[in-house]
Amino acid sequence: MAKSISLILIVSSFLIAAISIDGRPTSDEAWSHNICQGTETVTKLHFYVQDVLGGQNPTVYEVARASITANSPTTFGQVRVLDDLVTAEPDINSTVVGRIQGLITSGDLETSALAMNLNFYFTSGEYNGSTISILGRNPLMNKERELPVVGGTGGFRFARGYAITSTYSYDAESNYGVLEYTLYVSHYGDSSVRDPKANI
Ligand SMILES: *[C@@H]1O[C@H](CO)[C@@H](O)[C@H](O)[C@H]1NC(C)=O
Ligand SMILES: *[C@@H]1O[C@H](CO)[C@@H](O)[C@H](O)[C@H]1NC(C)=O
Repeated sequence: MAKSISLILIVSSFLIAAISIDGRPTSDEAWSHNICQGTETVTKLHFYVQDVLGGQNPTVYEVARASITANSPTTFGQVRVLDDLVTAEPDINSTVVGRIQGLITSGDLETSALAMNLNFYFTSGEYNGSTISILGRNPLMNKERELPVVGGTGGFRFARGYAITSTYSYDAESNYGVLEYTLYVSHYGDSSVRDPKANI
């Protein structure tokens, strides 16, 4: 099941800069040495987001709008909350990977662009329970959009990287879209993180 999430380790073996060649920290480096040992890896993640905007069981809801929103060509000021299912394949009934939860704000007066604050929450596979946080501008008119990965928890502590997203399909009648996400996330993983006080 974990394999179908398409987790691919593509890079490993970036030594942490704060650790000297023989692995012994100098006094200035002790803190970072204790926080994080081992190697940085880049994990590629590929999944689909079920963006159910309409129908009987939507997973996206408006929470607020501004005085300008109704007359704005870009729905400027609209704030929505979402809790979308994340799957391994475009089919909504394919293997469940997790959820994407967060806030999206229409934040551009001129073109359709969202200010995104998303937490990708794994509910299966080897990263079950871990999260990845995405924060950035999503220019909806572009076929492919790039968003920054700014952090994470669990297996994704110290995460940074980027996500490429595009609209895989959209059905206007049911107001239901499937979004494709590919993430490149640099992180250390659980086993390399220790209690900062353990060696002091
Ligand atoms: C997914 O499964 C549900 C419940 O079994 C079914 O009603 C629905 O038609 C399925 N959707 C697709 C796209 O296969
Ligand atoms: C994910 O972790 C939760 C909490 O530990 C557990 O209840 C659940 O069964 C796990 N899910 C899978 C698919 O392993």
